[in-house]
Amino acid sequence: MHGHEETQAPKEYWEGRYGGEQVWSGEVNDVLADIAATLTPGDALDLGCGEGADVIWLAERGWRCVGVDISEAALARARQAAAGRGIGGYRVGFVAHDLADFEPSATFDLVTASFLHSRVELPRREILRRAVGWVNPAGSLLMTAHAAPPPWADEARKRAFLPVDPEGEIAGLDLPHGAWETRLAEIRLRKAVGPDGVEGELEDSVVLLRRLV
Ligand SMILES: C[S@@+](CC[C@H](N)C(=O)[O-])C[C@H]1O[C@@H](n2cnc3c(N)ncnc32)[C@H](O)[C@@H]1O
Repeated sequence: MHGHEETQAPKEYWEGRYGGEQVWSGEVNDVLADIAATLTPGDALDLGCGEGADVIWLAERGWRCVGVDISEAALARARQAAAGRGIGGYRVGFVAHDLADFEPSATFDLVTASFLHSRVELPRREILRRAVGWVNPAGSLLMTAHAAPPPWADEARKRAFLPVDPEGEIAGLDLPHGAWETRLAEIRLRKAVGPDGVEGELEDSVVLLRRLV
């Protein structure tokens, strides 16, 4: 989403970000809910799961889901939220790891990344490229990302913003020819409320790919 406007080490930055109050709404991302509802539940992996709302939503709908995030503080909140809803055991797992050098020990029917953005160093494209190899045949890769800065962003933020577009997202993956099918590649608009209570519309880049072989 942003250029690397801050110089902190990623772990330090994100632990600080999650160090206070709950950061996100606790609600599943609309795109994930909309799209995962059309898929057959199986094993899922959520990249940069934050406080775990998407993982919990998937687990409650029959998926076995692992969330990975660099922040222990975020995952502590995610684990607490899952336990509070009676979800545990084999249905959910939360792994604290830097995705820059993460290698899962299994493959998945769904790999999802909702707003895997950072204001500090994050090799997003490389991570997603590797994630292609973590998807089972007939499985899906879902990437939801900010396609534009929020309307309430200040000028500095707008300048530092690195928008994601669906075509660029797919091109960046270097997919092997004939091995993947594009199910969705579009911009979706979403109403949201900014920090000062101002209403605005956000643009999400949504890409859903299906592995054929
Ligand atoms: C914008 S938040 C999105 C969180 C969540 N997916 C959601 O939609 O609410 C980005 C998440 O990516 C995580 N993250 C950033 N860099 C990471 C890295 N190198 N490895 C693992 N997680 C990272 C952050 O800790 C944060 O939780």
